[in-house]
Amino acid sequence: MTDRYAVFGHPIAHSKSPQIHVAFARQTGQDMTYEAILAPLDGFADSVAAFIAAGGRGANVTVPFKEEAYRLANRLSARAQRAGAVNTLVFDGGILGDNTDGAGLVADLTRNLGCALAGKRILLLGAGGAARGVIEPLLEQQPAALVIANRTVGRAQELAELFGHGIRACGFEETGGPYDVVINATAASLAGELPPLSSALFTDDTLAYDMMYGRDTPFLTFARSHGAATADGLGMLVEQAAEAFALWRGVRPDTAPVITSLRAA
Ligand code: ATR
Repeated sequence: MTDRYAVFGHPIAHSKSPQIHVAFARQTGQDMTYEAILAPLDGFADSVAAFIAAGGRGANVTVPFKEEAYRLANRLSARAQRAGAVNTLVFDGGILGDNTDGAGLVADLTRNLGCALAGKRILLLGAGGAARGVIEPLLEQQPAALVIANRTVGRAQELAELFGHGIRACGFEETGGPYDVVINATAASLAGELPPLSSALFTDDTLAYDMMYGRDTPFLTFARSHGAATADGLGMLVEQAAEAFALWRGVRPDTAPVITSLRAA
């Protein structure tokens, strides 16, 4: 029987994950299927159970179920534990939860965009689930400084305390600058909004990265107008998928052609 995989979310119709994993499977000659499953908002665990019963081998999890997936898993990778959220599940008799989002971001920054993070000054905007998921993988790159800025300063402080490593927490008015890398992990771009950022964050050598993809966000436009190079989150999306694929299938796909074809579409 062909191995089945899926992505669970709500909404899910516009997910690019099926396209990405089908491309990976073709490229690596893996016999598998990958579908998008719309789980009811109050029925994530039931949907996953039905998928496992039908022969599901693994799944990705997206908004708004990543914290619920964390609770559903009966084993967690160290990075999922620290992230407090799960985007990848392995059904191997039990349910293993992993989180590949941060590794995907780091892979996109360092490998695809040529931005080594060691010794760099990094500003992370936001203190929700998206920000929390990438902190540990960013710290592993040994930046000179990691600052977390959030609209609600208390949430940034909680993350700084949780992860330690001398992380500074602040509001958008106290960010200082400039930074080598500024990463937007707020949900502001989804609403077409710009957090109240200082132009002093950016120089010609700054890379501004928005985790959102698919359109030019007010954050990227603002950063570019102050000289920064910019990148959206499409590469992160493909890289987190590649990490999940490698976990499931034991082979690492080549992400470059998949990023290129998604970008062209
Ligand atoms: P996610 O899992 O996507 O991170 P979340 O946990 O709801 O979602 O967190 C959303 C993040 O975006 C938070 O950091 C939020 O700031 P608050 O903690 O102050 O709520 C931030 N955010 C959302 N809309 C924003 C906006 N218009 N401007 C600035 N920050 C915003």
